[in-house]
Amino acid sequence: MIEIRDVEKSFENKVVLRGVDLDVYDGEKLVIIGRSGCGKSVLLKLIMNLLHPDKGYILVNDIAIKKVGQVDLFNLRKQFGFLFQNAALFDSMTVAENICLPLVEHTKLSKSQMMDKVAEKLELVGLPGIENLKPAELSGGMRKRVGLARAIVMDPNYILYDEPTTGLDPIMAANIDKLIIELSDKLNITSIVVTHDMQSVSKVADRVVMLHNGRMIFSGNVSELKSTDNEVVRQFVNGEAEGPIQPKPHKY
Ligand SMILES: Nc1ncnc2c1ncn2[C@@H]1O[C@H](COP(=O)(O)OP(=O)(O)O)[C@@H](O)[C@H]1O
Ligand SMILES: [Mg+2]
Repeated sequence: MIEIRDVEKSFENKVVLRGVDLDVYDGEKLVIIGRSGCGKSVLLKLIMNLLHPDKGYILVNDIAIKKVGQVDLFNLRKQFGFLFQNAALFDSMTVAENICLPLVEHTKLSKSQMMDKVAEKLELVGLPGIENLKPAELSGGMRKRVGLARAIVMDPNYILYDEPTTGLDPIMAANIDKLIIELSDKLNITSIVVTHDMQSVSKVADRVVMLHNGRMIFSGNVSELKSTDNEVVRQFVNGEAEGPIQPKPHKY
């Protein structure tokens, strides 16, 4: 499990996270929502130890990720698969070479063992046999899937998805949502999905949290999300422009 405690993060003078507390439970599909620029990607990078909190701490299975040495850091990183916002494939490499990158970097597997892994992961993301294609030959949805195959090639315990359906048409987006659910079930993976796609939220989330002004302002399941009386959350869910927030009428 991941425990995030009182995490603060600023860049120069800009405060992004002002004290985030969040537990991510093993096996759950947690969706993080919030307006653009509210710090969702920063939070994922903090969890991955690609950025460090100014204050507070993050534990992964009781290990404080800030304090780990080189070996533990490697073991920790190995537990995470990360699907970047733009899939980040290298255009000069084949699909297989792209998926192999973490294996080349972190393992001593033979070429044929690596190719077995690549075939297995391509099968899992529904793209068997495309090893020798180049990213330029793939549709947007296929690129995401290849990115996902790479994210799971090290058999991670956690997958972090940063806006996995952004830029996809509704059908491709629905396919990615389905895949997120399938992978979570088949591989018994804990998933953290950052999105502002309410369709995805409804389909994927066991639990939703919303980040706003540097804090978690909501945590609950989808039906709690949809029936919340928190005005900020409600506006986000309904896709309303952010207007001045009306004071709540007094209750007598
Ligand atoms: N490496 C960085 N250096 C400076 N500012 C950053 C950096 N990463 C993110 N930020 C700023 O932090 C804020 C939150 O960014 P981000 O987490 O990417 O938002 P989002 O919720 O849209 O993913 C933004 O204002 C962004 O400009
Ligand atoms: Mg982002």
